[in-house]
Amino acid sequence: MAKDTSTSSLSHEKIETSNFLMIVLILLVLLAGGLVEIVPLFFQKSTTEPIKGVAPYTALQLAGRDIYIREGCYNCHSQMIRPFRAETLRYGHYSVAGESVYDHPFQWGSKRTGPDLARVGAKYSDEWHRIHLTNPRDLVPESNMPAYPWLEKTPVDAAVMPAHMTALRRVGVPYTDAQIAGAAEEVKGKTELDATIAYLQVLGLALK
Ligand code: HEC
Repeated sequence: MAKDTSTSSLSHEKIETSNFLMIVLILLVLLAGGLVEIVPLFFQKSTTEPIKGVAPYTALQLAGRDIYIREGCYNCHSQMIRPFRAETLRYGHYSVAGESVYDHPFQWGSKRTGPDLARVGAKYSDEWHRIHLTNPRDLVPESNMPAYPWLEKTPVDAAVMPAHMTALRRVGVPYTDAQIAGAAEEVKGKTELDATIAYLQVLGLALK
């Protein structure tokens, strides 16, 4: 009896015995699933619009954020409180997307050698941070956080701030012309330590 060749449809067996078909179809399924999960986020107000009270970083805070990134603080500190009881008890209200719409790039992270910093603003005095960043062991004897003694000796690079803010405006941060024009003046005479502290002190305050 001749073999039946009339069934050209994609039978289960055909797919499961063909590596190529299997891979292509799996990719198609993942693609559809991914699009369904991700695309709506681009259009949802809760993920694209700032919550009430969130303002773009001032020039000094922004300079501090750059130092935070340059020094690799994110290697040990996340800035995202997850919606679990253990987290909210320790750090406060869980993070919401509308808090970080002006963060390019965001600093959420998951590595926590040190505590989460999403709501560290106003938790300590400026003086506490001054001592802590210059030598953490002076305040927390068992700390393994590195010391950053050069921050207080290095002036903020004021010249780069206007161009930096202009670039951020291009990706949607609503800086005004006046803010950009005054940026260099705002950070003049400030040290990198001042800037880092200004940044830390504003983290997480917008959400009431
Ligand atoms: C090698 C890991 C590591 C790096 C890198 C690091 N930290 Fe830390 N940080 C820690 C640890 C551990 C603690 C907890 C002990 C302490 O308070 O010193 C901490 C604590 C802190 C705290 C106090 C948080 C709280 O709620 O008590 C702040 C603020 C902080 N770090 C800021 C920074 C900044 C800013 C940088 C970058 C300039 C930085 N850290 C880099 C490990 C790190």
